[in-house]
Amino acid sequence: MANDSNLLDKSADNANALNERPDFSAHANKATTAPAYFSVYDMHAYYGESYIVQGVSFTVHEGEILALLGRNGAGKTSTLRSIARIGDPEVTHGEIWLDHQPLHTMSSHEAAQSGLGLVPEDRRIIQGLTVEENLKLAQIAPPIGWSIDRIYDLFPRLGERRNQEGTTLSGGEQQMLSIARALARDIKVLLLDEPYEGLAPVIVDEIEKTLTHIKEQGMTTVIVEQNAVRALQLADRAVILDTGTIVFDGTAEEVLDNEALRAEYLAI
Ligand SMILES: Nc1ncnc2c1ncn2[C@@H]1O[C@H](COP(=O)(O)OP(=O)(O)OP(=O)(O)O)[C@@H](O)[C@H]1O
Ligand SMILES: [Mg+2]
Repeated sequence: MANDSNLLDKSADNANALNERPDFSAHANKATTAPAYFSVYDMHAYYGESYIVQGVSFTVHEGEILALLGRNGAGKTSTLRSIARIGDPEVTHGEIWLDHQPLHTMSSHEAAQSGLGLVPEDRRIIQGLTVEENLKLAQIAPPIGWSIDRIYDLFPRLGERRNQEGTTLSGGEQQMLSIARALARDIKVLLLDEPYEGLAPVIVDEIEKTLTHIKEQGMTTVIVEQNAVRALQLADRAVILDTGTIVFDGTAEEVLDNEALRAEYLAI
């Protein structure tokens, strides 16, 4: 049974004065002594007047998989969109660092060029293009990541269907193509928004295996999932969002072992 010390005190978080200099060491030292590779510090974001991301902070170490969990409407997608600098929601405060680069000063294009790889929920396969053309388009501008051959080694199904139009792939294959397109660029962190959504358990197994393989190659990953149990089985650590703030930060096992926590914030 996990103790409750990982349940973050919202009032203490809010007490972080907005103008205070961020102390990354405090966050980085939470899990290990190594500095965090990817960190989000006190991020706030709005859709118009709606205050949705309400001071989100977390860190991810290089090569780690972090599960970002929470109920419907907790702000998971908004957090990923804020990190990716999409502009909607509008980020009004906060810092985002990836391998010593300040993403919070960048446009979404610059953040992508600096190694941010967002795989959105709708998968965004480009209509009218084959699997291979979708991959090649991702490599149209440097920095280029995995070669097409290496991608087909990891996703043999994509290799078999290289000349098939991407939008005619099955849901699972489209998810694979969407992840493959991110890897085709030289990314440093992979952000996945509900990669298992709508997929049969056997396909989830396949994608999980692939994500494990990608981790073994050193990738740093953030996975948002409604299927929290599956995400926790894959992840090293977890953070839980509730109404736009982080209410738990700890290991994946701690969440799996803590029934009360799961019932309160994940409804599982
Ligand atoms: N474009 C938008 N304009 C206004 N409010 C929005 C917009 N998109 C999302 N919201 C609101 O922001 C809150 C957080 O939504 P978000 O999509 O980030 O949640 P989520 O945790 O990803 O939920 P789910 O698990 O359902 O995907 C919700 O209350 C939602 O209604
Ligand atoms: Mg969402």
